[in-house]
Amino acid sequence: MAAWTATRIREAKGAHKLVCLTAYDYATARLLDETGVNLILVGDSLASAMLGHDSTLPVTMDQMLYHTAAVSRAVKNALVVGDMPFLSYQVSIEQAIDNAGRLVKESGAGAVKIEGGAFRAPVVKALIENGMPVLGHIGLTPQSVRSLGGYKVQGRNAESAQQLLADAHALDEAGVFALVLECIPAELGARITQEIGIPTIGIGAGNGCDGQILVTHDLLGLPEARTPRFVKPYADLATTMRQAIAAYKKDVADGTFPDADHSYE
Ligand code: KIV
Repeated sequence: MAAWTATRIREAKGAHKLVCLTAYDYATARLLDETGVNLILVGDSLASAMLGHDSTLPVTMDQMLYHTAAVSRAVKNALVVGDMPFLSYQVSIEQAIDNAGRLVKESGAGAVKIEGGAFRAPVVKALIENGMPVLGHIGLTPQSVRSLGGYKVQGRNAESAQQLLADAHALDEAGVFALVLECIPAELGARITQEIGIPTIGIGAGNGCDGQILVTHDLLGLPEARTPRFVKPYADLATTMRQAIAAYKKDVADGTFPDADHSYE
């Protein structure tokens, strides 16, 4: 089967559910790809998951380029999407083209993701016209956490639900190949999914979406300061890692590591 492209993701709507996860490094990306994940996002969640920041705002273009390149080197089948960090596409269309171009050209991303609704249509069109497929992202957009007043469910009242529906239609018309819906009521997620022609990828947007995405650290149970309600941990790697480190510590302290099996004659 051919590798996943933005076109193939778009065409998957209605045919099968899209399985999407984040990765920021070579080893994790290789495991996700081998397991058959369709889309791997090098998210700006890199800021919190890997770099210890309390929001996505501080992550830089250079950091995104570095981590996206590591992921691209590992992936043979999934579509690698590079996230455009805060202020890399908001200042001007020229700057957005330049930065998206670097993610594709220098880091091997197959597409880029930007946050925002109908007002982002001009940037979306410019990127697509210049050969870069775009994944949209509406609902709770973490780069706007300061103006949203925190990490809150979006689209709870009629007015904001209508706005999100209009945003989804505008981005579909602008040409995004799929749309991330973050932290909105399940009913609204299902309605947007039914109304637009491209796949929706939910994160806290209910079961009616065309696909799902999670931050891989959350899925694996690696510690994070903020674990939202929509996260289902499928493992407890933090406990497994603590146990392994403690066992190594004990063996080194009491002199049982390295033994003969792990030494050279
Ligand atoms: O940065 C990220 O990881 C994301 C996803 C969680 C959608 O934007």
